[in-house]
Amino acid sequence: MENLTARNTQRLAELKASDGDQDRAPKIWAVGGGKGGVGKTLLAANVAITLARTGARVIVLDLDLGGANMHTALGVDSSGLPSFTDYFERKIVSMQELARPACVNNLQIISGAQDSISIANISHVQKQKLLSKIRTLSCDYVVLDLGAGTTFNTLDFFLSADVGILTVLPESTSVENTYRFIKSAFYRKLKHVERAFDVHNMVDRLMERKAKLNIATPADLLRQLEREHPMLGSRVRSAIQNFDLKFVLNQIRTQADVDVGYGIRNVCRKYFGLSIDYLGHLEYDSAVWQSVRRKRPLALEFPASPIMPKVQGIVGTLLKEEVDCIQQANPIKQQGRTVQL
Ligand SMILES: Nc1ncnc2c1ncn2[C@@H]1O[C@H](COP(=O)(O)OP(=O)(O)OP(=O)(O)O)[C@@H](O)[C@H]1O
Ligand SMILES: [Mg+2]
Repeated sequence: MENLTARNTQRLAELKASDGDQDRAPKIWAVGGGKGGVGKTLLAANVAITLARTGARVIVLDLDLGGANMHTALGVDSSGLPSFTDYFERKIVSMQELARPACVNNLQIISGAQDSISIANISHVQKQKLLSKIRTLSCDYVVLDLGAGTTFNTLDFFLSADVGILTVLPESTSVENTYRFIKSAFYRKLKHVERAFDVHNMVDRLMERKAKLNIATPADLLRQLEREHPMLGSRVRSAIQNFDLKFVLNQIRTQADVDVGYGIRNVCRKYFGLSIDYLGHLEYDSAVWQSVRRKRPLALEFPASPIMPKVQGIVGTLLKEEVDCIQQANPIKQQGRTVQL
């Protein structure tokens, strides 16, 4: 499995080199979810380590500013670690300077550790600046570890990513929170598109007539929007379809738990009109809390955990999708070259 991810990273390096664009902006992978304690940090930390081990340059950004703990998940001592507070208070001018080496080669962390401000307190301007600066970081991938909940800031960080991964537990409360998160992200995305298109409150005006128009789901809303405002409607549909939404089920104990994922996928398609990828699942493993207690990453402390091959599979899938995407975007250049996966 490690070879799979390494081969894809190698292939990506070749594709980027043949494109003459090695300095492209990093890809952003965000890990979020509606509920607290569902394994967002566990997944983000171990995905980042796995990715870095393939030779890709990775920066993990702890954007759970109210409850930052990625430094602990990566086994990094937080004392003396610069954080976003230093950046917002202008003690550190460039975001790149906040990055510090983490537990394996090629991996760096930008910590939220010293922050006293909560994520909700970042102003709109600060958020916009932060989002634009993330794209200028010097690395191949930025992995965002987000806080729980559906505040606008968390949703905007999530929506700014190239790939958004939700972690979900196979429990009704977590599944409900996941739908709530997706619904909030959906409406937030509509607002972004409205703003970009310089039209205001079209969605709100439709929602005021929702009973009359028979709008029961976000999918109905989109259809009605397309009917009444074809240009905006098609723009919204493509913006929503462009967003790469995925989820991972965590703390699996039985096959019935695994199957919960297929239900989530079907509901999303029917209710939101959205396709969401079921990326895979992670077992419940007591090694997780033991590694947390020892303040060491799972990947280093318990490499034989059944969770690690699953994480490697997830990273391999994401890298393969990136390879496919580049090849589809540039088929002529890639003619005659097949990817070995
Ligand atoms: N697969 C697992 N097996 C066993 N325990 C797990 C697993 N995943 C998570 N846990 C437990 O759940 C706790 C919370 O995990 P984690 O911190 O990754 O969640 P989170 O979603 O980032 O939480 P928060 O919303 O507080 O940031 C871990 O400390 C660990 O004890
Ligand atoms: Mg967390």
